[in-house]
Amino acid sequence: MNEVTATIERLVVVGMGDVTTRYLLPALAELHEAGELPGGLALTLVSRHAVGTAELRERISSALAGHDPADATLDAIVGMCEHHRADASDAAALRPVIEGEGAVAVYVALPPPVFPDAIDALARIGLPAGSRVVFEKPFGTDLDSALALNEQLRGCLPDDDVFRVDHFLGKQTVQLVLGTRFANRVFEAVWNAEHVERIDVVWDETLALEGRAGFYDRAGALRDMIQNHLMQLFCLVAMEPPVSLDADHLAARKVAVLDAARPFDDDLRRCSTRARYTAGAVDGSEVPGYVDADGVDPERRTETFASVTLAVDTERWRGVPFTLRSGKALTTDRHEIVVTFRAGSLPGCDGTRNRVRIAVKPDRLGLEIVVGEGADQLSTRGVDLVETLDDSAFGAYSVLLRDVLEGSSNRSVRANEVEAAWRVVTPFLDAWAADEVPLEEYAAGSDGP
Ligand code: BG6
Repeated sequence: MNEVTATIERLVVVGMGDVTTRYLLPALAELHEAGELPGGLALTLVSRHAVGTAELRERISSALAGHDPADATLDAIVGMCEHHRADASDAAALRPVIEGEGAVAVYVALPPPVFPDAIDALARIGLPAGSRVVFEKPFGTDLDSALALNEQLRGCLPDDDVFRVDHFLGKQTVQLVLGTRFANRVFEAVWNAEHVERIDVVWDETLALEGRAGFYDRAGALRDMIQNHLMQLFCLVAMEPPVSLDADHLAARKVAVLDAARPFDDDLRRCSTRARYTAGAVDGSEVPGYVDADGVDPERRTETFASVTLAVDTERWRGVPFTLRSGKALTTDRHEIVVTFRAGSLPGCDGTRNRVRIAVKPDRLGLEIVVGEGADQLSTRGVDLVETLDDSAFGAYSVLLRDVLEGSSNRSVRANEVEAAWRVVTPFLDAWAADEVPLEEYAAGSDGP
């Protein structure tokens, strides 16, 4: 972290799409209500089309509607906000909102293909001292583009001032994974291949495309979820015990996991699945097939469901499958890490297992244990011990936005981490692009392929 952290007086959000409306504006409102925004912060929203004062208020108001903010909060956010019309790649058009005295935080809330031109434009303008630049995930579209972006950024500003956002790192339960793992002997002693049978990182969503074809159809589930969010969860459950909580040390521990990860089987058809949804109904509402959604090009063969199984080639994990899976338009929302232990030694209790469930949404920690039952000393039943966490915790984007404004880069994904994560998914990306793994289908509202 920087020795002296400049105070951010201006936040410039480039892009007014899903990230800005679904996440950033509500986060700003939440921080404002908690009194955690720097006094006098000026917010500029930048997009390519003109947005008048009334429309700006309307758009902010609808972004906050689901969060039921106080009227005063809406007024405060509208009051600190201006709109500026510019293309992210146009240095001359961006200059007026970047140049100036105080440090500025520039949040690039745009899809990754725009990043190189946006960085180039910022470099040409020159950022005031102490400024920070924030990138949404995915950082790049593949390993080569991520390497090139990191190289380009190295020429512009120190890595501590580059924030590669993965909002899962701001989620409450995700922040608790390390503490829960390493503060309990009862887990620490058995967290290895001798006792663990498999680990699943599951992010099943009922949400479908939500009008995001412009981004999603070029990304797909592997790039949208697995390369970043689920890879972070995977690293936290698989890493070796950290000796300090220093951010660079934690990143090194994660990179060690990623460097040891490879497809679980040489035949990628046996350790990966890709699929897209066809028409169906989710929660009683009809969902058109993915290929019929506005803006989707069926020829891209974009997957809306991805599952990859990895092996971690270390003493601790040799032979244990780690499955990372995420899909859209599925029958239920299920967001959790499940550690399944091998069966106990009691004869006949196969099928009932100990499991640790770290549920990320809603925030819950669960432990499934097997208890004896009835007069027959060998009868058992499964019992769930569940701790539901306080849901008043800050939202993930509020946590990360506060980090940016305070200059705390602890939760920012490091350059080497993002590159290592791309390396892990590259064999799957290549095999899928070459059609070596068939693209399956599943009906919206089903359990997936
Ligand atoms: C985003 C993905 O990063 O994470 C979305 O682009 C996904 O496709 C979302 O729906 C899930 O996170 P959350 O916090 O909204 O549940």
